[in-house]
Amino acid sequence: MMHGTIASAHAKIKESLANGGVAIDATCGNGKDTVFLATHATRVIAFDVQKKAIENTERILMDVGLSDKVRCIHASHDTISDAVQESVRVVVFNLGYLPGGDASLTTRKDTTIAAIRQALNVLEPGGLLSVTVYPGHKHGAEEAEALEVYAARLPAKQFTAVIERVMNRQDAPHNIFVYKH
Ligand SMILES: C[S@@+](CC[C@H](N)C(=O)[O-])C[C@H]1O[C@@H](n2cnc3c(N)ncnc32)[C@H](O)[C@@H]1O
Repeated sequence: MMHGTIASAHAKIKESLANGGVAIDATCGNGKDTVFLATHATRVIAFDVQKKAIENTERILMDVGLSDKVRCIHASHDTISDAVQESVRVVVFNLGYLPGGDASLTTRKDTTIAAIRQALNVLEPGGLLSVTVYPGHKHGAEEAEALEVYAARLPAKQFTAVIERVMNRQDAPHNIFVYKH
């Protein structure tokens, strides 16, 4: 049986949102993670750089009756500090490119790290940052390397950073979880 990377991230996110709270979906794509967050969070703020992704997310939210809980923002996630003026319980990055879309419009390490820095600032104490990384393509491998260095250097007094990875398949997707104290 394959390791369920997304299922594992969702389990931890659900646990963090047991009492509700605000969540950010930093890469809403086709809206699957946004729907999951909107099911468990009090409110969700969702970002994507692609108009098509925002449209797909808004459509699926309408279909399942959750659009009232979500504010979709058509902008890069490295504008989190401008767009979000409140503390949030959970921030989710599902990196890479839109499934079935243009693979060149993928997340990139520099913007990803800048956005994660902003996400950790708006995270409330006890909150969770969940990042799913896809090292199986060039930009994903660069992101995986940069993120590992970045997360390993986070001050241990403020954060606990955890990596959850398949040990015998180097290019398998994996999760990084950062808990804010
Ligand atoms: C793997 S997909 C996300 C899948 C999505 N969470 C879902 O459930 O369908 C990655 C998404 O990141 C978006 N993206 C790429 N660069 C971005 C950026 N700088 N800011 C926000 N979104 C970005 C892409 O447009 C793409 O839709």
